[in-house]
Amino acid sequence: MATRQKSAPAKTARVEVKNEVKGQARSDSKAHGAIEPAKGNLGVMIPGMGAVATTFVAGVEAIRKGLAKPIGSLTQMGTVRLGKRTDGRSPKIKEFVPLAGLDDLVFTGWDIFEDNMYEAASNAGVLDYRLLEQLKPFLSSIKPQAAVFDHNYVKKIDGPNVKKGKSKMDLAEQLRADIRAFKKSSGASRLITMWCASTESYIEPTAAHQSVKSFEKALHENDEMIAPSMIYAYASLMEGVPFANGAPNLTVDLPVMLELSRQNEAPICGKDFKTGQTLMKTVLAPAFKARLLGLSGWYSTNILGNRDGEVLDDPGSFKTKEESKLGVLEHILQPSLYPELYGNIFHKVRINYYPPRGDNKEGWDNIDIFGWLGYPMQIKVDFLCRDSILAAPIVLDLVLFLDLAKRCSELKGRGIQEWLSFYFKSPMTVPGLYPEHDLFIQLMKLKNTLRHLKGEELITHLGLEYYD
Ligand SMILES: NC(=O)c1ccc[n+]([C@@H]2O[C@H](COP(=O)([O-])OP(=O)(O)OC[C@H]3O[C@@H](n4cnc5c(N)ncnc54)[C@H](O)[C@@H]3O)[C@@H](O)[C@H]2O)c1
Repeated sequence: MATRQKSAPAKTARVEVKNEVKGQARSDSKAHGAIEPAKGNLGVMIPGMGAVATTFVAGVEAIRKGLAKPIGSLTQMGTVRLGKRTDGRSPKIKEFVPLAGLDDLVFTGWDIFEDNMYEAASNAGVLDYRLLEQLKPFLSSIKPQAAVFDHNYVKKIDGPNVKKGKSKMDLAEQLRADIRAFKKSSGASRLITMWCASTESYIEPTAAHQSVKSFEKALHENDEMIAPSMIYAYASLMEGVPFANGAPNLTVDLPVMLELSRQNEAPICGKDFKTGQTLMKTVLAPAFKARLLGLSGWYSTNILGNRDGEVLDDPGSFKTKEESKLGVLEHILQPSLYPELYGNIFHKVRINYYPPRGDNKEGWDNIDIFGWLGYPMQIKVDFLCRDSILAAPIVLDLVLFLDLAKRCSELKGRGIQEWLSFYFKSPMTVPGLYPEHDLFIQLMKLKNTLRHLKGEELITHLGLEYYD
């Protein structure tokens, strides 16, 4: 077994760096930490080559070929205001911080089915076949490696492309060998792992998850409380590779993973991509709280017909998703601070598997609010969304930002990257700290982190200086 690196969490270092924003070059002595340049290829490794993964990879290739635009991606289209409103400095984020370019991305993945990315994308039915035909040679060249899979954790599916091993530690070693082989064959200088596989059954942490020592013992003993996603996470973090989790499984939300992440300077972040209904929830709920409008009930239901919908039809997998979706309101509305407004909310989330809709989910929300003197009102939201179209730009941004974190002395040894909460239904924080779910606080946190790294003033929106 390869040895684990024992480097201490990075401390903040003040160094001289050159501001790279065009036309604004200046020596910046306030930058926090050095950022290594994004040199060479960035390898993206994806457990789960289904609808989200193929929509992401096909999308990157389509954008590279000039066939489409990276709509929805903060790293590609977003800007960041610097200095005062009157300064007129709003560079693109990708020009402000050194991110990998789309041309630098190379891909691999694991799946329990043997379909290559072209076949998997065709089956997923998200992208138009005319676009897929133009990408066929590229997508067909990405074939899944054999997966680490346990049917007990995903009851609705089974497939032939699965690794065999004497123990879970043996499976972890096989994944580590895959990671090293891909790094060599692709010539990538850096790697990222992005879980886009099915949602696993609900479990809670046990003693096995509390430290690296107990986890490794449990891997050797085939402890049933170690889910496949944890084996991928362990393998990645042991190889010093950052890990993001698109599904609501526990996976890296465990003391063992935080320990490994810090030790090996392999950043981790939240879980479960914040795409459709929860995105709307984390936009509307802050508006109610801002105006002190009360909430008595929020009923959310979905119809969804893709494989994800089928997997979530199993009560164990649904429970994992339900926990993730239910958490957001409590943290945004803070019923302990506002008991008359939010102390008695009926919050229900349903997901119904309905094959005719495929990936084109429909999410309904019925929201019962109350205003002045307690008078009730209702809001209905009907979001006819495309799940994977909303998820793909999130995957891209997380890949590029996690790679930035890994190259940044200020961030790489911190473990959890709370500044990436923006992308998740269940953001991760250190134990004892409540997560921020409000989308606009999350966006401010993200952009302020970038400003902080580059030694720019944080934006507080105070604005008194304009009236001096
Ligand atoms: N699309 C969205 O808007 C969205 C939002 C939040 C979360 N998610 C989550 O993202 C994940 C992917 O969604 P999707 O629509 O692409 O689902 P999908 O069913 O199309 O793809 C998942 C793939 O994972 C594979 N898989 C399952 N277990 C595996 C394992 N142990 N190793 C390797 N491969 C494995 C399956 O064979 C399948 O091909 C799901 O967990 C979903 O809940 C999606």
